Amino acid sequence: MPATDPTPAARPVSVLGLGMMGSALAAALLKAGHPTTVWNRTAAKTGPLVAQGATPADTPAAGVAASPLVIACLTTNDNVRELFAPLTAELRGRTLVNLTNGTPSQARELAAWAAEHGIAYVDGGIMAVPQMIAGPGAYILYSGDEAAYAAHRDTLAALADTRWVGTDAGRAALWDLALLTGMYGMGIGVAQAYALIGSAGVPAKDFAPLLTDWVIAMTQGIVPGTAEAIDSGQHLTDVSNLEMNLAVLPNFTETFAEHGVADAVFGSLRPLLERAVAEGHGADGLSRMVDMLKTP
Ligand SMILES: NC(=O)c1ccc[n+]([C@@H]2O[C@H](COP(=O)([O-])OP(=O)(O)OC[C@H]3O[C@@H](n4cnc5c(N)ncnc54)[C@H](OP(=O)(O)O)[C@@H]3O)[C@@H](O)[C@H]2O)c1
Repeated sequence: MPATDPTPAARPVSVLGLGMMGSALAAALLKAGHPTTVWNRTAAKTGPLVAQGATPADTPAAGVAASPLVIACLTTNDNVRELFAPLTAELRGRTLVNLTNGTPSQARELAAWAAEHGIAYVDGGIMAVPQMIAGPGAYILYSGDEAAYAAHRDTLAALADTRWVGTDAGRAALWDLALLTGMYGMGIGVAQAYALIGSAGVPAKDFAPLLTDWVIAMTQGIVPGTAEAIDSGQHLTDVSNLEMNLAVLPNFTETFAEHGVADAVFGSLRPLLERAVAEGHGADGLSRMVDMLKTP
């Protein structure tokens, strides 16, 4: 760093996009002492951040021009492209860290566009909700321009723990989507469980402690156990085999039908179980499902 480079906490940052997440990111930067410039399409959302010391930018161009590090957090990457396409001259020589949720291909396209215009591009995936930002358990995955990431890592650390996943700009999005897939899978299972228990008049709050403990216990076994099976290719199990799982599946679907609850879970699980058993994997554990998903 040149001698004139400000101390890490004094490095200016611009945040464009002040929805629930962007506002939390900007607030964390302000709290860490960074001079923070903010811009949002709906200007009124800058108010609370200005009250915390942020400088409002009148235009996206002014927001970009204010800092060497520009953080974007919009709804989609279509929004990102639309916003920044006219601003390549302003962005040249700066780092754009895009924390908008998107696909690996979108991240790679944005990285190629940025490279064409002399913009250092880092893509990110936020593994937190806004309330977790700058707190325990939050982390952000980053990939893309490694030198730009290294130069700004200390600043980015004000948002959440930083996890570098590689120079392929698409990797952060891939890891993000894989992690979120696990979350949505759990979410639909939890919703199905509450729908079923609720159909018998059991208040959700009475069932919540049991469901929480059960999901945690199963997660702690299934997640590392599945990884071990995938990496070793050894799917045989003394925990619970696919044949048994297929045999008990009607108990769920019949009970849903009797209780007037739709089935959002087993409709996708059943064909995988059936195929695995038909292909001779009945004695294997649920980890075999990964192979079934990889071979349509
Ligand atoms: N909230 C979470 O828990 C969470 C967690 C991880 C990742 N994320 C990701 O973070 C991103 C933002 O999420 P959020 O929760 O902050 O959403 P949000 O509260 O709905 O905010 C969306 C932001 O995008 C802006 N925007 C949308 N379309 C735009 C356009 N065409 N031009 C300019 N600005 C536009 C909105 O501006 P206006 O205010 O003018 O509408 C607003 O600032 C998403 O990609 C989301 O997946 C969110």
